[in-house]
Amino acid sequence: MKSFNSVFGLFFLLSGALDGAEVVDYVDKILPIMKDHCWDCHSKETEVKGNLSLDPETLFDQIGTYNIIRPGNPGESGFVERMKLDESHADFMPRKGSSLPKREIEAIEEWIRAGAIVDGKKLTDDEKKRLAEMGGASPGSDDKQADQFLSWKNREGKVIEARMTGMEGEAVNLVMKNGKSYLVPLNSLSSESVEQAKRLSGK
Ligand code: HEC
Repeated sequence: MKSFNSVFGLFFLLSGALDGAEVVDYVDKILPIMKDHCWDCHSKETEVKGNLSLDPETLFDQIGTYNIIRPGNPGESGFVERMKLDESHADFMPRKGSSLPKREIEAIEEWIRAGAIVDGKKLTDDEKKRLAEMGGASPGSDDKQADQFLSWKNREGKVIEARMTGMEGEAVNLVMKNGKSYLVPLNSLSSESVEQAKRLSGK
């Protein structure tokens, strides 16, 4: 059995393999959705309300650990939160519009989970570093089982993609896309990953 830290260490080493890998990016996958629902109020081409311009070249300002788009973490991204509110809520987006179709919201969540990359063909240094730290696995690319692979974060903040197959005592069994499995002690995981393990195991 390998320790959790060595799993993350391995991912870090593998990051060189990322160059040229397919990434889910904003310009291809998300921009068209934004143009459909948000453009009237959040683009330099029209109007920039709430100081939020969704044009790709200005989007970088919105992406970061403490910003409305938190790479790897759709659940804590205010950007997505607002779209999932009840339409009658004062903070709901698109304002005066109706909820985005579920699959569009899911696409946005997946984009954020995979690192919130703006343009996969023109990765910035920050984005390359981020992808390397995340292990570069972009869920859902061409993997049929992708929806079962979730992000797992350790206490140092490193993230891997893995499928949980069960719990053994105070440890969780994770299988990575290469088929390797690891028994990971809960106390080495971030609190959100511990919650995720408990939720999945129904505890
Ligand atoms: C009819 C105009 C309108 C549309 C369409 C619209 N918004 Fe907004 N949005 C606003 C206004 C006005 C604000 C500023 C007031 C506020 O924060 O509630 C705002 C603020 C925001 C903020 C907060 C920005 C911040 O820095 O806190 C987010 C996030 C946002 N909008 C996302 C969206 C998204 C995503 C869409 C499309 C799905 C969208 N909006 C569509 C008018 C709009």
